[in-house]
Amino acid sequence: MSDDVTIRSAERSDLEAVEAALTSAALPLDGLREQFGEAFAVAVHDGKVIGVEGIEVYGEDGLLRSAAVLDAWRGQGVGDALTRDRIAWARRRGLRSLFLLTTTAGDWFPRFGFAVADRDSAPVAVRRSREFADACPSSALFMRLPLNGDDAHD
Ligand SMILES: CC(C)(COP(=O)(O)OP(=O)(O)OC[C@H]1O[C@@H](n2cnc3c(N)ncnc32)[C@H](O)[C@@H]1OP(=O)(O)O)[C@@H](O)C(=O)NCCC(=O)NCCS
Repeated sequence: MSDDVTIRSAERSDLEAVEAALTSAALPLDGLREQFGEAFAVAVHDGKVIGVEGIEVYGEDGLLRSAAVLDAWRGQGVGDALTRDRIAWARRRGLRSLFLLTTTAGDWFPRFGFAVADRDSAPVAVRRSREFADACPSSALFMRLPLNGDDAHD
């Protein structure tokens, strides 16, 4: 990733730019305002948000969501840096697992250790999330990355 791109925790003032980035990537905004804060990271270039990724925390687990990089910046490692940053955040936070739902990036997340999981294995709180309940179609792939539990690996 280019040296002049920074990954940092999101601030409330980033919300509008993040909504625009998600909309341009055709990703859902459901629940974003409620969840937005330090569990989200933004990639910034020249003061502008060029990418985002966030975690919704549900007890001991997290739901990774809103992974988006502006079109012009794709393929340069920004998404990779955002994902690694969020996984490190989840580990520091002591989360047991990260889950995600995706219709578009099922072939991308395995490089970070995510593997397809049975939807029925989702913790109840994760299953009740808006992303799970409303935003993602039932055809979306459900994936899990173990972090701090017995089956976690680095
Ligand atoms: C998915 C996304 C965040 C990746 O960000 P990025 O900055 O382009 O990714 P990186 O530059 O770090 O990684 C590029 C690599 O990932 C691969 N890749 C990117 N998007 C992919 C996808 N959707 N599926 C499979 N592989 C993908 C590229 O082919 C490239 O592979 P290589 O390393 O073998 O050359 C970005 O493409 C995006 O915003 N997509 C639209 C929104 C989306 O689908 N988000 C996921 C929703 S859960």
